[in-house]
Amino acid sequence: MKIDVISATPLKHTTPALIIGCFEDVRDELFSACDAALEGCLGRMAVSREFCGKLNSTRLVHTLGKLPAERLLLVGLGKRAELVEERLRQASGSAVQALRAAKVASFATSLHLVGKPESALEAVCEGALLGSYGFELYKTKERAELFSFEGMTLLLPKGGNRQEAVARVAAAAAVCRGVSLARDLVSHPGNVATTGYLAETARELAVRHKLLCEILELDELELLGMNALLAVGKGSVEPPRLIVLEYRGAGDSGRPVVMVGKGITFDSGGISIKPGAGMEEMKTDMAGAAAVLGALEAAAVLKLPVNLVGIIPTAENMPDGKAYKPGDVLTSLSGQTIEITNTDAEGRLVLCDALHYAQKYKPAAMIDLATLTGACVVALGHEASGLMGNDQKLVNALKKAGESCGERVWELPLWDEYGEVMKSDIADLKNAGSRDGGSITAGWFLKQFVGKTHWAHLDIAGTAWSDKTRPCSPKGATGVGVRLLIEYLRGR
Ligand code: BES
Ligand code: MN
Ligand code: ZN
Repeated sequence: MKIDVISATPLKHTTPALIIGCFEDVRDELFSACDAALEGCLGRMAVSREFCGKLNSTRLVHTLGKLPAERLLLVGLGKRAELVEERLRQASGSAVQALRAAKVASFATSLHLVGKPESALEAVCEGALLGSYGFELYKTKERAELFSFEGMTLLLPKGGNRQEAVARVAAAAAVCRGVSLARDLVSHPGNVATTGYLAETARELAVRHKLLCEILELDELELLGMNALLAVGKGSVEPPRLIVLEYRGAGDSGRPVVMVGKGITFDSGGISIKPGAGMEEMKTDMAGAAAVLGALEAAAVLKLPVNLVGIIPTAENMPDGKAYKPGDVLTSLSGQTIEITNTDAEGRLVLCDALHYAQKYKPAAMIDLATLTGACVVALGHEASGLMGNDQKLVNALKKAGESCGERVWELPLWDEYGEVMKSDIADLKNAGSRDGGSITAGWFLKQFVGKTHWAHLDIAGTAWSDKTRPCSPKGATGVGVRLLIEYLRGR
């Protein structure tokens, strides 16, 4: 969607639709002026409770020539005193979704005028870009009728700093481009988004944004001894790969932040096969990888002054005559041996080799993102990602980033005692314990492979995909992790 920034009075601006924010408890100047122009229509709707400013509620009103804007799209902001950036972001997302439903393709917004000038504009832009996302690549019928937005115009007050506003719009667009990339990757089916497709995507990003890219193919993984990653890929005709992308925004000095993303392009469970119902959702098991790619793209476009390494272990988990199986014992890259008790606990296997490998970059901090456990969905539902780690400062920084960007995280403990169920009779570790505390035992397993590196783990199993439409995320892939990582990196 094209975004313009102009200095104009909302009441005098001609547009198919003007978005205005409305509080539950106070009527601001713009609301009152619009109400007056519409001869009290807005006030009447409030009295009859048709529209009273409840957060994320919307209402489209035709102005019938009483205002230069053809329509007003009212969006609720809740109570004035409770207005935070995230509410503006959500209101903006809700507003564009209402415009999509009404097939209004270009519009102007004055929503940012109610917030702090420094941050409101970016939030409103993000909300609009995130909320207007759609994925219709595989619909072949009536393509001409598919809706897409043409453009949005941000109305700046007289004396507003246009240059600054344009920079903020560009920043929001960069972040949302990363989110859209992640959403696209997750939305693509498993027969398209293969391990090779992820590798090709990484290569293209490298060319476009001058990143370093290295793809370790099967033979190199064998030479290195990445046997845990290799084992998971054995049942598939798509070879496993390790994708490494580097962005240098801080020159040669400065240890990098390493981001590791689980890249299982489809998780059938392998020999410990999953039930059929809902298995199609397991195309999303590379959402961690998608978030890492999205964050790297956004960081490069934003020119963040940090060094970053993205590492993606990618494989397809399938049952086959050649597949790994329960009872197998693997020697991971770290040398630790692992008894397989469940081939469906494959994420921790591909990650353990990647986390060990990552240490060669001497990370200042290492963050992994993975759709790792169903247990995390049981614990936190779809409202927060699970967060664990060995470094409280890093964990706290991620919590803070999550709070401000609206991608919620919730910390789970990683006490040593949780490791008892992961001890094997035959090997150093087993890959699956009991069902109890399943997210934590998975996190505990990963912890055995990070050495002394400051490390945090995000379990995004419940947040990478949404069955319902949310203000900033239409139903489907959410692109979770991209904004969280960028917010964290900006705060460093
Ligand atoms: N990819 C799944 C976890 C998952 C579940 C992601 C639901 C998204 C939605 C993971 O590989 C898995 O199968 N985990 C098992 C681990 C168990 C066998 C120890 C699980 O959670 O059941
Ligand atoms: Mn699995
Ligand atoms: Zn999985």
